[in-house]
Amino acid sequence: MEALKDVRILDMTHVQAGPTCSQLLAWMGADVIKFEPPQGDATRGQLRDVPGADSLYFTMLNCNKRSITVNMKSPEGKTVFVDLIRKCDIMMENFGPGVLDRLGFTWEKIREINPKIVMGSIKGFGSTGPYAEFKAYENVAQAMGGAMSTTGVPDGPPFVTGAQIGDSGTGLHLAIGLLAALHQARRTGKGQYVEVAMMDGVMNLCRVKFRDHQRLQRGSLSEYSVPTYQGMGETPRAGNDSGGGQLGNAIHCKPHGANDWIYVVVQEAVWGALAKRIGPDVGIPNLDTDERFATIGERRKNQQLMWTLLNKFASGYTKREFMAILNPLDVPCGPIMSTEDLATDEHIRGRDMYVELDHPQRGKWFNVGMPIKLSESPAKIERSPLLGEHTDEVLASVLGYDSTKIAGLKTAGAFSAPPKKAA
Ligand SMILES: CC(C)(COP(=O)(O)OP(=O)(O)OC[C@H]1O[C@@H](n2cnc3c(N)ncnc32)[C@H](O)[C@@H]1OP(=O)(O)O)[C@@H](O)C(=O)NCCC(=O)NCCS
Repeated sequence: MEALKDVRILDMTHVQAGPTCSQLLAWMGADVIKFEPPQGDATRGQLRDVPGADSLYFTMLNCNKRSITVNMKSPEGKTVFVDLIRKCDIMMENFGPGVLDRLGFTWEKIREINPKIVMGSIKGFGSTGPYAEFKAYENVAQAMGGAMSTTGVPDGPPFVTGAQIGDSGTGLHLAIGLLAALHQARRTGKGQYVEVAMMDGVMNLCRVKFRDHQRLQRGSLSEYSVPTYQGMGETPRAGNDSGGGQLGNAIHCKPHGANDWIYVVVQEAVWGALAKRIGPDVGIPNLDTDERFATIGERRKNQQLMWTLLNKFASGYTKREFMAILNPLDVPCGPIMSTEDLATDEHIRGRDMYVELDHPQRGKWFNVGMPIKLSESPAKIERSPLLGEHTDEVLASVLGYDSTKIAGLKTAGAFSAPPKKAA
């Protein structure tokens, strides 16, 4: 937790994209002050599984942060915000387009208050261009960043991926930008505005699909198992094809349930050993010398038959048994692991990637751990804060407010929602 221990972040982010970023920075030791409206980040109450408790949606994305509630629509709340801006190295937000400007805080205004501050902004489509005014959620970004059109099978609908590349993926991009800008600010004394558009982030993660998009101008894509042709125009959906230089596919195993699959990469170097092992069992004893599969070019051409043979062989084994056969042959492969498989996996537990935490409202729960392992400053994961849990603490310890000042601000409504207008 030492890496970023001298970094203070004013975290105005909500939902998933921004909180992913600030949680990672908190796990690297930053003091992250989650700055919430009086009613809190909307995800606290979304998809609740325990009545009255912060939802897992919130708790899983907001660990190791302190929570302060401030009503930015009151003049007193705005002064607290300005004081915090002066004391922070980074501020970050992922509001809809124009929200901060409407509150009176453009980037120009924020840098005037603290010229050294780095400001991070996530928007669906960035602050420029014809889409700039649109809001976005995960699947909107997947739709518009190229992921959906290239996921699924050609004659089926486009699919979203389970991995949250639009939200969490964008959060990762922002973390990189913020750390780079902070490094520069510490050298130059000058902060800057770091913007990541979700659409851009998804496009970045679809880079190889744009490789294939351009290759289609020169010819077909021989490694694809679905038909492609020169001038096709758009990269097609290609099911479970590997998408790389090596052939790969998902192979169905015993007992043929929803997740009884294993992903196998038929790497150039392993074909001989693999063919020798499976050939006799699928009725082709000389598979390793069979001309239809002798070179990678031939295997690409005849890959449907190759997958049929592998599926035939695998039908006698579970995914773990098949993995045990493939591992000694050095074949890159991996069983399709369900969330239940992962939640109980020894390897995952050993790497602190599924960690048990306690919470005053919900009791025991699990969070996915910190995937970035720093040898000298390992993450220590702590529960998410309750709404406004640290308001007084932050006002006193960060801003130096005394109890009289805090009480006065409270009375003025700086930290609470305005009373409802009479009907
Ligand atoms: C996610 C998103 C669609 C949610 O939309 P939304 O619920 O309408 O929320 P917005 O961010 O547009 O607006 C937040 C409102 O809360 C208000 N608010 C936020 N913090 C506040 C505070 N501390 N005090 C008072 N009001 C506050 C804002 O002023 C704004 O009110 P306004 O509409 O009157 O200007 C939108 O924030 C968005 O597009 N964000 C950028 C893309 C993104 O990150 N999407 C992925 C989320 S995982």
